Amino acid sequence: MPFSLKELLANRVTENHQLFEKYVNPQFVRVLRTIGFDKTYTRAEGCYLYDDQGEAYLDFLAGYGAFNIGRNHPAIKNVIREALELNLPSLVQMDAPALAGLLAEKLISLVPHLDTVFFTNSGTEANEGALKFARGATGREKILHLDHSFHGLTLGCLSAMGNAEFRDGFGSLLPSQAIPMNDLETLEKALSRRDVAAFIVEAIQGKGVHLPADNFLPEAQKLCRKYGTLFIMDEVQTGLGRTGRWFAFQHWDLEPDIVTIAKSLSGGFIPVGAILYRREIYKKIFSQMDRCVVHSNTFGKNSLAMAVGLATLQILEEEKLIENAKRRGDEIARGLRPLINKYEMVKEVRHKGLMMAIEFGPPRSLKLKVAWKMIHAANKGLFGQMIVVPLMQHHKILTQVAGHNVDIVKILPPLMIGDAEVQKFVSAFEEVVANCHEFPGAAWEVGYTLAKQALKSRSPEAAPLS
Ligand SMILES: Cc1ncc(COP(=O)(O)O)c(C=O)c1O
Repeated sequence: MPFSLKELLANRVTENHQLFEKYVNPQFVRVLRTIGFDKTYTRAEGCYLYDDQGEAYLDFLAGYGAFNIGRNHPAIKNVIREALELNLPSLVQMDAPALAGLLAEKLISLVPHLDTVFFTNSGTEANEGALKFARGATGREKILHLDHSFHGLTLGCLSAMGNAEFRDGFGSLLPSQAIPMNDLETLEKALSRRDVAAFIVEAIQGKGVHLPADNFLPEAQKLCRKYGTLFIMDEVQTGLGRTGRWFAFQHWDLEPDIVTIAKSLSGGFIPVGAILYRREIYKKIFSQMDRCVVHSNTFGKNSLAMAVGLATLQILEEEKLIENAKRRGDEIARGLRPLINKYEMVKEVRHKGLMMAIEFGPPRSLKLKVAWKMIHAANKGLFGQMIVVPLMQHHKILTQVAGHNVDIVKILPPLMIGDAEVQKFVSAFEEVVANCHEFPGAAWEVGYTLAKQALKSRSPEAAPLS
């Protein structure tokens, strides 16, 4: 019998949690169940997901930023169909594929101060390559990164990790140093030893959505130039329109030596990433004919990824999604900012385009103060879940807490959202926030239930194997 995807899914899609628990990641399934995210999604379109009961969910997670153009975009589906019909000669390896050249040409037209492109399969692989190029080109080893930074989870990128929860427990890494955001003095002191290959930065940090002070990145770039360190801008999450510009570094008129991208270049379908860099760096790495593949991979330039990348960039332009990101981001922020004065635990709404955080902080009134303290004593990361869980449970909106042990809720919607989604989110968010300001109340019950579940989940096998 020929393989039928439709039949397979019709028969077994509802086994999703059971299979994932048995073969992939039982702890993750526990989390999904605990926070009520244990749905069986069967279909997706634009900014909506649909479950096996036909319920619609508004997706303000966007696959951690992989769906800037929305899910299952019809033009991307057509490009994939067309590519398949053409029987394209992908992965010949000993050739120079036209589609890779065309996508590189397009990307460089968007970042004209750079001139060379290396294709990867993911964001972490793009950053890994960027760090390796920087070490090769400068002959130096050390990497600087910011506190709270996130550049991926491979060992090289872990060396540039500013979140201990992800970094600890994996042994020694590359020589590196964390720089506090906006601390130019510490940065200069570290750079002035002239042993730093690269300073890698997210212009707006994914974890916590922290934005730099206006002078920080331009001054940091100057300091890097002064001390011969390469300035790497990680645009894996912020790139391709997310912040209301093609790239977040454009908000500060920067000219980084290396720019990395991934996520939404995939059109939400074919994993892909890219390192955009300067020819002088290229020449140091790929320095002679027998080093022409000294850094390479098998799947990086595959035809489907290149075709979908080209189509995605065209969709971002034609549908004016970058302008829409700015407009809708501003609208949501305008809708949420009044909550700061109205509700004592809402402290800040910060964003650029559709990368946004709502930060909560300790209340003033006595009753809420006690509740706040109790929930933080139980678990420092729980308060955010008291927002995220009811947004899902009562309003069918997917959001996330913006990191470990923070009181920050983050939204990252597809860039094609419209009026209806803005209105729906703003009113749902206010309702959830209002409920949290009532103690005792159902919102706090959610918090305590989550705290108990988290305690129960501690694995007795967590110690190292040997
Ligand atoms: C800023 C940033 N860099 C790198 C990565 C890693 O990308 P990937 O998950 O494709 O390896 C991410 C992923 O979330 C990211 O947000």
